[in-house]
Amino acid sequence: MASNVQPGIAVIVVAAGSGERLGYGMPKAKVPLGGEPLLVHALRGVLAAGVASQIVVAVPRGNDELRLLSETLTVETAGELRPDITVVDGGSTRSESVRAALESVAAGISAVLVHDAARALTPPEVFRRVAASLAEGALAVIPALAVVDTIKEVSPTGQDSAVVAPERVVSTPSRQQLRAVQTPQGFDLATLRNAHQAAGSLNPTQLAGITDDAMLVEALGTEVFVVRGSAHSLKITTRTDLLLAEALLEGQMAPRWVEG
Ligand code: C5P
Repeated sequence: MASNVQPGIAVIVVAAGSGERLGYGMPKAKVPLGGEPLLVHALRGVLAAGVASQIVVAVPRGNDELRLLSETLTVETAGELRPDITVVDGGSTRSESVRAALESVAAGISAVLVHDAARALTPPEVFRRVAASLAEGALAVIPALAVVDTIKEVSPTGQDSAVVAPERVVSTPSRQQLRAVQTPQGFDLATLRNAHQAAGSLNPTQLAGITDDAMLVEALGTEVFVVRGSAHSLKITTRTDLLLAEALLEGQMAPRWVEG
């Protein structure tokens, strides 16, 4: 692990979501996967990647349990080259949580990787691919996978055809150019700070449409590069996702794959 540590990189782990869609009645970061909270798995991935000299975790405001868990895990598993750990209160949206974490990035850090705790099983190689691209000079880099489904843009049918179906197709973008985007998303620190500052002038509707950090950087006109993501990096949002993650974690899926 020691040889991978790159001084100057902070990994922000946003873990302040409510997890309502999972229906566990607890913050998503605490939901158990293989008997351990999602946040523990996410932090293990960050530590195993060995790219961070600082880890900043955004937890739900005032959640001392997740705060303690982050601090303890990082101390216990990081070995000699232990990254600094900072835990901050997240905000009411993902963007607010990222901004809160950005305020606690230490002096001397020049690049950040922003990662969703909900992508608890992201392999260390993905962190390293993103960090390597930043080291080669990218100001912004995201991991992504080609989409397997055909994607349609739709709109509500409205009163005229509502009995036929609730939505109709507007267009079909070419699948070849579409990518499903994941985290960690890597940025030059100053670039990401500028992007979030510029987002301060957006209205609530526009803010609600911000689903990742790269969107904000794209709006500045900065080139965003794309590296290969991983199927293991699925975003655990529903109970079905959790079932799939359990299977991936236990390695039971591996023998079932048949190269076609
Ligand atoms: O809610 P969603 O699945 O889009 O959340 C993506 C990630 O952002 C999750 O890891 C979640 O914990 C985090 N988040 C956050 N603060 C919020 C909302 C979401 O840190 N207010």
